[in-house]
Amino acid sequence: MLIMISPEAIRSALTSLRQHDLPTHGGQTLAYVYDSGLAEADALGREALAAYGSTNGLDPTAFPSLLAMEQDLVTLAADLLEGPEGTVGSFTSGGTESILLAVVAARDAHPEITEPTMVLPSSAHAAFHKAAHYFGVRPVLVPVDADTGRAVPSAMAAAIDAKTVLVVGSAPSYAHGVLDPISEIAAAAAVRGVRCHVDACIGGWLLPYLRRDDPTLEPFSFEVSGVTSMSVDLHKYAYTPKGASLLLHRSPELRRAQYFSSARWPGYTMINSTLQSTKSGGPLAAAWAVTRSIGDHGYAALARQVHEGLQLLIKAVNENAELRVVGEPVTSLLALAVRDGAALDVFTLADELQARGWYTQPQLHFEHFPATLHLSLSAATVPRLPAFLDALHASVAAAKAIGSARLPPALIAQLAELNSDELSDAVFDGLVQVLGLSGPAGLELPERMGSINALLDAAPARVREALLVGFVDRLSRPVRKQE
Ligand SMILES: Cc1ncc(COP(=O)(O)O)c(C=O)c1O
Repeated sequence: MLIMISPEAIRSALTSLRQHDLPTHGGQTLAYVYDSGLAEADALGREALAAYGSTNGLDPTAFPSLLAMEQDLVTLAADLLEGPEGTVGSFTSGGTESILLAVVAARDAHPEITEPTMVLPSSAHAAFHKAAHYFGVRPVLVPVDADTGRAVPSAMAAAIDAKTVLVVGSAPSYAHGVLDPISEIAAAAAVRGVRCHVDACIGGWLLPYLRRDDPTLEPFSFEVSGVTSMSVDLHKYAYTPKGASLLLHRSPELRRAQYFSSARWPGYTMINSTLQSTKSGGPLAAAWAVTRSIGDHGYAALARQVHEGLQLLIKAVNENAELRVVGEPVTSLLALAVRDGAALDVFTLADELQARGWYTQPQLHFEHFPATLHLSLSAATVPRLPAFLDALHASVAAAKAIGSARLPPALIAQLAELNSDELSDAVFDGLVQVLGLSGPAGLELPERMGSINALLDAAPARVREALLVGFVDRLSRPVRKQE
């Protein structure tokens, strides 16, 4: 039963519910959140989010304020990303939605291709695999360079064929923060008359500013003639509240297939530019407010700040006898790995950092790349880097004292035989027990995630996926209790 509670009790519950969440501000959470450190911009974002929370972007003629703000943001982004006259765009809920729409538009622009494919560097974001899964566009994965982590344009060019509807590059990739050679990738696509999408969800609001300081940084945006669309997230390095990204197309013709309209039902005529239909105007208004509040000079300073932080961090990590940076990160993201032969476990290191108040994101081994810890620097992290480096040194020492992680041999054998299509509740319960994760209420996540990450790392990709579904399915089963 839904029992009514007082406003004070609701407020205090909302506060106490968050006590186990990662902090969104303060610069110590190095994934998931982006903190500009600018209190006034944050406050304006929250105000706009609340003021527009009940508006509906379903119909742009009913809420023209939303159309006006969307157009303003698109114009701003098109200028930043060197879009030619005629560049158009849509505000979406996030990078994944921008990518899904780029893929579906590329597919539907070619109804004559019955088994469409897209050519992806293996470092491309998982959102492209989600698009493949939803829309039936088969990904053709091209391994990236094992040292630099960058896409290999000649190999990508060789993978393009008559079924290819889209070629992709990242600016930069999420996992290792490296910039793909966009000019060569886009040229290879253009020669074949194929669309080229640049995933600049991370770099779209950083690289244009960094290139002003460092012209040797490679071009990555619409100035590269073969680039046909770009995704850029505002809720990352434009530091706006969550639910804010843009998908830009070089021309209205390229965008056309992104729209969905329907007059085949008795209700209102439906015309959607995005996957969502009814959608709150809150994130759009918040994005408009924050970007206008920070402005061009503000973003140039914030971009410089995270980039200087990255340089400092790269140097410190590479000087560490146990750790190294993977690939050649260029903007604000970095993946650190344990050096070959060093006697510590990277997932234990993540746990030790978290125990000291720093959240870093474990990434499993992939292709030639070892398991790593991912760090996304926010502007607010940079002044705190000396404290982070102290915590890192202490955590390395603690992780060395614990030594390499070992999974029970029986568990490794079980993983090898696991049929990922049939990960039944019974099999999953068995695994949870071997890992010591079962409590009175079923699956109970431990404070330290090292054993779970080690389990995932030891499993092949399909089993990893099935295990992840198993974990999240269990965690999200409601516990029914009498009030
Ligand atoms: C390069 C890149 N593309 C796409 C995405 C997906 O964005 P979102 O999580 O906003 O859906 C991310 C998220 O980190 C990203 O880094």
